[in-house]
Parts: sequence; structure tokens; C-alpha cells
Amino acid sequence: TRRRAAVTKCTAEPLVEKTIYSTSVRRNTNLTKFQAPYFFPEISRRMAAHQRKHPESKLISLGIGDTSEPIPEVIARAMEQRAHGLSTLKGYTGYGSEQGPKELREGLVKAFYSDLGIDKDEIFISDGAKCDVIRLQLLFGPDVTMAAQDPSYPAYVDTSVLVGQTQGYYPDTQQYGKIVYMKCLPENNFFPDLSKMPRTDTIFFCSPNNPTGATATRKQLEELVAFAKKNGSIIIYDSAYAIYMSDDHPKSIYEIPGAREVAIETSSFSKVAGFTGVRLGWTVVPAELRFQDGSPVIKDFNRVLCTTFNGASNISQAGGLACVSSEGLEAIHKMVGFYKENTRILKETFDSLGFETYGGQNAPYVWIRFPGSQSSWNIFDEILEKADIVTTPGRGFGPGGEGFIRASAFAHREDIIEATQRLKSLYGGKSN
Ligand code: MLT
Repeated sequence: TRRRAAVTKCTAEPLVEKTIYSTSVRRNTNLTKFQAPYFFPEISRRMAAHQRKHPESKLISLGIGDTSEPIPEVIARAMEQRAHGLSTLKGYTGYGSEQGPKELREGLVKAFYSDLGIDKDEIFISDGAKCDVIRLQLLFGPDVTMAAQDPSYPAYVDTSVLVGQTQGYYPDTQQYGKIVYMKCLPENNFFPDLSKMPRTDTIFFCSPNNPTGATATRKQLEELVAFAKKNGSIIIYDSAYAIYMSDDHPKSIYEIPGAREVAIETSSFSKVAGFTGVRLGWTVVPAELRFQDGSPVIKDFNRVLCTTFNGASNISQAGGLACVSSEGLEAIHKMVGFYKENTRILKETFDSLGFETYGGQNAPYVWIRFPGSQSSWNIFDEILEKADIVTTPGRGFGPGGEGFIRASAFAHREDIIEATQRLKSLYGGKSN
């Protein structure tokens, strides 16, 4: 029998009783566990509400890490030519291989994994690292246990909830049951004490970390690989920001001996080449990585991929191929250099205002601690209300992010300069 839900009253108009029809389909219990909407659309929602309230204000976004500068011409031209080719008999292609074209996989090996022993057949081209994260969670299924850095990119925890790996949410700890939150804050130099960490099946680790910008040293990554090996765990290493590194720390987990047996790496062209809208990423699954029963993980990942995905857009892949050409790589590094200068300006501003800042050296984000025990959403609201600047509240990256905000360097230079002036007016008189 179909159920009739509660009667709701519409208050905007004369009271009219409306009956809402409900199907008999039960709601996915994993979705009922979520405490809030996905983090980044919530920021966009608050940004739009602020703009509606103050239509005259000129908002500056240092919020979501969305690239702002045009895609280098050499790369855009390759996509244009590919798109045009689709209008010709000779240039038209339909479905490509789910794993992506051999030339692009070879190009990635040459550009980012030379001398690391990665074979092109271990690389899977995708529509972005976030989409690969959910495919990886599907690969592991609901029965595994997982650990994630706290704070970290919210998609790791949310996709774990989505596939049913977690228990409910515990308001006292602000954590989902069954997930191991690895505190990575200034107090522990942004690296967990592995000797105190319980074993989990998977370990999500992002370096340079989003949001803190902290980068693991070679020694720390050696420890992490040894820890995974000892416990028979699999590391999912997110290197989406590796191209921003100035320090001489590893850019890929495969720089660490033994990582091929315990680690998957996922990455993206989004922050590398301004592909947040174009959509292109990749995941590396080494042939040596095995499940408990000895079966190769790569075989199952390929199965998941072929079932859920028909390959990245052929136009995006043409752009990706241009990115890994020598001309493309030069253009990319120039653009990354531009954002790095933005980051430097932002960090210097917060430093000059007396804030405790982190990151900014190896990632396009500055991580700023606010004094007292202010909630990060309150800080976000204050900066939005008083300076018309959108930031990102640290709490959205996990309970460990409370008391911090993240400022993104993805913005036009004049907006960065304007933002620094507004921040100086807002906080210049206070001692932080
Ligand atoms: C961020 O702001 O952390 C990222 O840009 C969001 C994303 O990559 O999905």
C-alpha cells in the first residue's frame, strides 16, 4: 500500500492544504546519515544568498578551488581542432576505450612518472579525481574500514558514507562511526602518529594536502608505506596538487620503494591546466597490487570502470594530450607559477595581520587559524558579511578543521590584491 505523507501548509498563499504523494520505496539509509549538504554547493548557496541580499557588492571568491585563468592557447587549440574534427568524416570518432588512449597514458608516464616504473597500462584516464574516488569506493565496497586525514577533501568521507562503509554520525565527536580520522594539524606537524593508529583496509592520503597545503616528506611517506605493508592496507594517494610543490618532497607515492604493492594514486588535470570545467583526471593502479585472495586489484578496477564509465570526453582527452606535450607542459608550469604568486600574496597578507598561517608553499591554498574558539562557519560569515569575500570554512574538511579557514589562490590577480586590501581593513586594527 502506498503511504500518504504529512499534510503541509503553504504559508506564502492563503492556507491551502496539499497532500504529498510518497512512493513505497525506502530511502537509502546511507544517505540518511549525512548531516549537511555536500560542502562546496553549500558555500555556493551562501554566496548566492549574500549576493541577493547585497546586489551592489562585488564579491571576491577565495572559496572553492576553482581555477580562474584561461586555459593556455596551445591546449585550447588542440581541443578546438578535435571538436572540429568531429564534424568531418575523417575525424569523427564515437566511443573510445574506457581506459583512455594509449598516447595520453604514455604522455602521462613521461610527464609525471618517468623513472618510477609505471606502465601506461596501469593508468586509467577519467573525468576527474573526484569521480575516481567514488569508483574506488565502489571497488572496495561496503565492508572495508577506512582512514582519512582530518582535515581533508570531503569527498573521501562522503563517498565512504555513500557506499555504506560507515555507521551513523556521532554528534559528540562529529565523526561517522567506523572511519578512522587521522588528525593532521600543526600540533603533529600535519602527519599522524602511525604507532597509535588502528589498522584499516584503506587509507586516503592527500599530499600536498587539501586544505592545509601540508606536504608529506619522503621519510613520512616511507613510514606510511611501511605501515600499510605491515597491516596489509591499501593507500589511496591523491596527488592532485603535486604540480604546486616547491619543496623537494615526493610528488608521487611511487617515489617510495614498495609503494607499488600497497598504493593506488589518483590525480587530475583540474588544478594543473584549468580543467575544472573540461573534466579530465587519471588513476594509477599498479599490477602488483593484490587483494587478500591474491587477485589483482587492477583487474577489478578495470571491471568497475568499464561498468560505470564510457571513457572521458574525446575533446578533453585531446586537451590532456596537449598538456603533456613539451609546449603544453611549459604553459602549464607558467600558469601554476601565476597561482603560486597569488598564494604568496595571500599568505603574506594573513601573516602581516598577525594570523597563524600554514600551507601556501606547496599548494594553492593558505590555511589560517583564527584565535579563540570561533566556529569556522562564523568566521566565514564574518568575512563574507564585512568584506564581501568568500573563503572556505575549515570545518567542511572534517572536525579537525574547526577554527580554521582556507583561502584559495585561484582568482584573477586584481581580485587577489583587492581581497588583501579588504582583509587589511577588516583585520588591520585587531591583534590576532
Ligand atoms: C576544493 O575547493 O577543495 C576543490 O576544488 C573541490 C574539488 O576539487 O572538488
